[in-house]
Amino acid sequence: MILALETSCDDTCAAVITRAGEIRSNVVSSQGIHDRYGGVVPEIASRHHLELVNAVVDTALDRAGTALDEIELVAVTQGPGLVGALLVGVATAKGLAAARRLPLAPVDHLQGHVAANYLAPDPIEPPFLCLLASGGHTLLARVTERGAHERLGGTLDDAAGEAFDKGARLLGLGYPGGPALSRLALEGDPQAFAFPTAARVGGLDFSFAGLKTALLYKVRELGEAEAGRRRADLAASYEHAIVESLILRVERALAVEPGARLAIGGGVAANARLRERAAALGVPVKIPPPELCTDNAAMIASAARWVQPVPFPGYLDLDAYPTAA
Ligand code: KG4
Ligand code: ZN
Repeated sequence: MILALETSCDDTCAAVITRAGEIRSNVVSSQGIHDRYGGVVPEIASRHHLELVNAVVDTALDRAGTALDEIELVAVTQGPGLVGALLVGVATAKGLAAARRLPLAPVDHLQGHVAANYLAPDPIEPPFLCLLASGGHTLLARVTERGAHERLGGTLDDAAGEAFDKGARLLGLGYPGGPALSRLALEGDPQAFAFPTAARVGGLDFSFAGLKTALLYKVRELGEAEAGRRRADLAASYEHAIVESLILRVERALAVEPGARLAIGGGVAANARLRERAAALGVPVKIPPPELCTDNAAMIASAARWVQPVPFPGYLDLDAYPTAA
């Protein structure tokens, strides 16, 4: 069995899975304290990880009905992410592994989102195209083997999840904005406002900065009272633009790789509209259940199965790597 930790952002996560990719436990403790600041405060996130991590690991072992003695491999997110937050997971994983002379697998967070698609039941087999859309990243990749992905395109500015979060903030919704904005969007008309999808950005790259600005201008143009009345329409149209922008690039990628299958990962893949749109593309599509799309440690454990583990004591000086600026 594999025990994995994930602390790259504001969720403290631990999971136990089997080598075959069956989830025995998957614990996510959301800090829920960043809402009042409208985003994640790195220092606060690190401190909360420190307070929560041991209890989260214990809960994951308990729920899996196992103990450290039965764990053969410890895995941890090494990066990218908030470096102080990552360090809590890395230090904890080192301690757990070293105490039992276990090997340690350092896992790339994005590879983790891809590997959510390899968990049981019905894991996808490469090759496939993969859309990754989270709070920190948006990219299209070709996956030909399990431990790697080849980048085909990425965002030129904001990530898709960031666009959700910033739009939500403009509409006076809390953080994280994605779930709140899409709930509000259910009551609105996605065709009410025509927001840009950056279709002019050619190839497989994404851009969301113009969309965010378009929402800001629209809110100003409507005025506070009217924008307040039409919040649901604004949310629905904004969500529609993000989803269509993502789907447009996927369609472009599929056009040059006919017959390719598609997998989707990252927090934005929890979005119901995106899931519906992807399912209607006419190609086989694999999307993990929503709780495996947003940050979790089961996906990190899954990815660890294709990482060369570092034997004890080689990992004692292992470092986290932050998000590239
Ligand atoms: O993968 P993730 O949990 O963390 C990162 O690696 O960034 O993604 C978090 C992002 C946030 O921006 C959040 O607003 C977005 O995913 N998100 C959603 C939904 N659930 C989470 N966006 C749209 N619709 C959702 N249902
Ligand atoms: Zn993530």
